[in-house]
Amino acid sequence: MRNNITRADLDAVIDFLRGDDPILTQSRNVRAFEEEWSAWLGVKHSVFVNSGSSANLITLAALRETRGPGEVIVPPLTWVSDIASVLQCGFTPVFADINPRTLGMDDEQVLRKITPDTKAVFLTHILGYNALTDRLLAGLAEKNMPLIEDVCESHGATHQGQKLGRFSLMSNFSFYYAHHLSTIEGGMVCTDDRELYEMLRMLRSHGMVRECSDDAHRRPWHEKHPDLNPDFIFAFPAYNVRSTEINAVMGRSQLKRLDANNARRRANLDLFLKHLDSRKYRTDFTTEGSCNYAFTLVLQNADDALRDRVMAALGAHGVEFRRGTSGGGNQLRQPYLRRVLGDQEFSKYPNVEHVHFYGFYIGNYPGLERDKILRLCELLNAA
Ligand SMILES: Cc1ncc(COP(=O)(O)O)c(C=O)c1O
Repeated sequence: MRNNITRADLDAVIDFLRGDDPILTQSRNVRAFEEEWSAWLGVKHSVFVNSGSSANLITLAALRETRGPGEVIVPPLTWVSDIASVLQCGFTPVFADINPRTLGMDDEQVLRKITPDTKAVFLTHILGYNALTDRLLAGLAEKNMPLIEDVCESHGATHQGQKLGRFSLMSNFSFYYAHHLSTIEGGMVCTDDRELYEMLRMLRSHGMVRECSDDAHRRPWHEKHPDLNPDFIFAFPAYNVRSTEINAVMGRSQLKRLDANNARRRANLDLFLKHLDSRKYRTDFTTEGSCNYAFTLVLQNADDALRDRVMAALGAHGVEFRRGTSGGGNQLRQPYLRRVLGDQEFSKYPNVEHVHFYGFYIGNYPGLERDKILRLCELLNAA
């Protein structure tokens, strides 16, 4: 992976710091970045936080405040914070296996796992692939079941021509280093629901009522608690997951070239999959609407010898890679989940198990040259 933070981004930060007595804590630039991000995505409201994990956390906290405890359906192939946030907010995680062509949860399994206790489906779009299907969206609408999208790995990917992150009650983005857009560290929660937006603003900042965006939302709290200083009314047991003006300045600078970068990443993935040997590797991913910051490399078969040769070849040529793809593979094999669900649960998800042992990802960045992609394919095909 290459650094996606350019000279222009750094200069934007320097210009900001050279200004007359700049405010560094969350202020005008955070608000402007949120508005620009909302316009780019096509949602009404966005809340900038200090990481994608923080976006996951306050999203689940808002779900818990509004819907109460219960089950949340999550994939075993995702980042740790998607499941940790479910546990931290007191929900019971219920798992569904993945569709090998999108690496996202299988729609039929998700719909089958919904019970009267289910409070939401918390889906992850893995490594730029669109995990939504019309069947899933129709099934959820029919059951009146909230969807939460984790789009941390898939900025700019689409379903039916609409950007992912617009199909859900709340959606989450990460702006960490390798992602499509980077604010060094950072994340966003997006929603069209005004009341959730106000709650998310409070949850981001100690649960404080003064964080609401207008007086109409502050006033009822003031009236109900006349014994409290209006500046210090803590409505929820919450967090401090704010970011800073510096990170927002960087995000605003990056957003200007996000679409152009994404077009390059799409073309790179197409080239990679086209030249990969489909007898050895899966090349039949559903790429329509995808926008990948990584090349997915999944062996066709459970072939330990090929896996070891692939790792040796990549290592010998200095190609950075991650085994298990997103989050290192099957989360159910991790100690934090075995403690809760025991040592058998992970084997119930064979498609995730395959990716755990025979799946990799390799960085895909806008400046990656065509020639390097072709050489990478040659290297892999010869392994
Ligand atoms: C799917 C997914 N969700 C959440 C996160 C957490 O984001 P962050 O690293 O910004 O905390 C990541 C991290 O990369 C991720 O891939």
